[in-house]
Parts: sequence; C-alpha cells; structure tokens
Amino acid sequence: MDKRALILGIESSCDETAAAIVRGGEELISSVVASQIATHAPFGGVVPELASREHLRNLVPVTRAALAKAGLSYADMDAIAVTNGPGLAGALLTGVSFAKSLAWALEKPLIAVNHIEGHIHAVLLEERQKSDEALEFPVLALVVSGGHTHLFLAELRGDGWHYENIGHTRDDAAGEAFDKTAKLLGLGYPGGPIIDRISKFGNADAVKFTFAQLKHEARHGSKRAGRMEQDRKRFDFSYSGIKTAVLRYVETQEMFGAIEARRRALLQIAMPTDEDFRSHCDRQTLDLIASFQAAVVDDLTHRTMAACEEYGVRTLLVTGGVAANRALRARFEQRGPRSGVLVHFPSRLMSTDNAAMIAAAAYPKWVCGEFAGLELAAEANLELR
Ligand code: KG4
Ligand code: ZN
Repeated sequence: MDKRALILGIESSCDETAAAIVRGGEELISSVVASQIATHAPFGGVVPELASREHLRNLVPVTRAALAKAGLSYADMDAIAVTNGPGLAGALLTGVSFAKSLAWALEKPLIAVNHIEGHIHAVLLEERQKSDEALEFPVLALVVSGGHTHLFLAELRGDGWHYENIGHTRDDAAGEAFDKTAKLLGLGYPGGPIIDRISKFGNADAVKFTFAQLKHEARHGSKRAGRMEQDRKRFDFSYSGIKTAVLRYVETQEMFGAIEARRRALLQIAMPTDEDFRSHCDRQTLDLIASFQAAVVDDLTHRTMAACEEYGVRTLLVTGGVAANRALRARFEQRGPRSGVLVHFPSRLMSTDNAAMIAAAAYPKWVCGEFAGLELAAEANLELR
C-alpha cells in the first residue's frame, strides 16, 4: 500500500463540522473546522436538531475549503474517512451520508472511524510530526471530552490498533460537568474554556469537594472469561456528584440572584474577555469555580495515574476537549515524570473536535484494507475496541 495515501476526513458528531486532508497518517495537509458555538450559545448547550441543520449547511463548504487550502481536488483523494459514532445520531448521519455519496460518486474507498479513536490519533499524528521515535508500550489513552471520559489501553497488532477499555464515566463526562457548572453559574457555553480562563482568579482551596462527591462503587475485572486482566481493577469516573455539590453550594449560599444578573450582563457582551468574566463574578463565585476545576483535575489525574501504575504504563496520551485545560496539562506534566510515564497531549487546537484526527485514524485501516460498505450506518453509541 502507498504510504503517501491522501485521506479526506469528515467529522460531524457533535457541534463542529470539520474536514481535513492527511497524507500517510502523519502529514497534516489542511484542516478546516466550522464551530457552531454561536448557534448553540443562546441555549446554553448543544441543540441536536440545530446541530444537524448546521452540519447540512456546512459540510460542502467546509470540505471544499479543506481541498482549496491543500490545492487539491476530490480526484486526488485516495479514500474518504468519516466519523460514524459515537455522537448525536442526527449529526452523525449528515456526515456519514455525505461521505458515502462522495465515496460512491468518486469511486473511492470509504473508511469508518470511531470518534474516540480519532481523539487518540490526534496525539499520534502530532507526535509523528515532532519525532520519529517509537512509542513505548503499554500505552494508555485518557479521552476526556464533552461526551467521554474513557481510559483505553492501546495496542498495535501488525498495522492495526486495538483498544481495551479499562475505565469510563458512570454518569457525566468531565467536559459535561464543566459545561453544566458554567451554565449553572451563568457563565455561558461551552463552559470548559471559560472555567479554564477564569479559574486563575479564584482560590482553589476555598471550597472543599469531598472524595465522596466524586466516587462510585468499585468494580473489578472484565466480564470476559479467561482474561489475564480479569482480576485487575477498573478505573471508572463519576462527575454528576460534583455538579450536584456545586448546585447545593449555590442554594445554601443563596447565589441565584447574582447568577441571573451575571447571565444577563454577559449575554450583552459579544466576546467576553477574562476581565469581563472576572468583573462579573464576586470573590465567592471565583473561589467556587477554581475549587471545582481543581477537584475535577485532581480526580482525573489521580485515577489515571493509578491506572498507569496498575498496568505498568510507559506512555500516556491525554486527549479530547478537556485536554485543552491548562491546569489538567500542568498536573499531568508534573505527575507523569514522577511515575516514569511519558505524557503526550495534542496541541490545544487539536484537542477539541476536528477532522484531521479522523483522517489520521483512518490511515492504519487503509493499510489493513479495512473499508466500509455503502450500508455504513451512524451509531450514536458506537463502542471502541
Ligand atoms: O472533544 P470535544 O470538542 O467534543 C466532544 O467529543 O465532546 O470536547 C468538548 C468539551 C466541552 O465539554 C468543553 O467544555 C470541553 O471539551 N473543553 C474544555 C476546555 N476546552 C474544551 N474543558 C476544560 N478546559 C478547557 N480548556
Ligand atoms: Zn470529541
């Protein structure tokens, strides 16, 4: 197979319409992302019907823009890759239908990519651009985004990647907790980047979130019989408790009046600056935000590093929208080396949804001849294996 295969990736699983071209799984040629933040912001979260409508509107122009930036045409592509899950069913369907029609009309192979696998390959793509050094196995990936908080052991067998899930969230994803907390506090959408920006103004030790608010019942071993890992611990997460704890705090401290005033004031500002956020939050709110972020970052790093120890992990990939969080990056950069674990992140831009990661994840499938038929369906709850 030609190592220089050009793959056009299409991503539409949530609120970003994206197209990108990657050569040989390692050279990013072009990447275009149309964000729908402006569409969903007035509703404080993603509205699935509006997301599908925006994807329908954006898929063709975004893909044309990716080709134009690359100075290439549809005919130059060797394969069309598309996210077929997990994500919003209607949103996924728009991308899958578009990719299928392209593959059919152009008579090119179609490659289905799991969105979570895409996030993992965002790191691998950028690492390959930085150095030729081989990864040291075992490799663990923490995929932490608005929809997922998953730990996967990633293994290369021949040319193909295989994944074993060793932990996931029992309820809310970490990014979801950021978004819901920001919404509750009248800060706007999406909450992760906003909380990241204003946490520096608060005292992270001011509000104590207890371990009980982040815990869940321990669960051991994989159900499949005969596995070596059967007796190993699972590393699950839970983030709905901390969201409820923030709500209780807001209730007991009678903060709702101030929250509503803040929400209205911030809505009047098109692009609030850090200073706008700071000046519309009192000390107590700033401290609450900083404490919330610190608790989530602590929990994510603590559980992930414990999993690294249990599985003798040498390389950790931290990826997904929440991997853009500065406090999370700093904490992993501090904790990793102490345990002899090399930690890799995507650039902050590649942490959130994009199609370069989809085109990159498709490349090993191209090499293995793992193509999808035109019966490919969108699967909202697609699992990664
Ligand atoms: O990967 P992504 O773009 O979409 C999903 O696959 O879900 O992740 C979006 C999520 C949102 O919940 C957003 O609030 C969160 O990532 N996020 C952040 C940051 N940037 C994005 N969370 C914390 N800190 C950030 N800097
Ligand atoms: Zn994502």
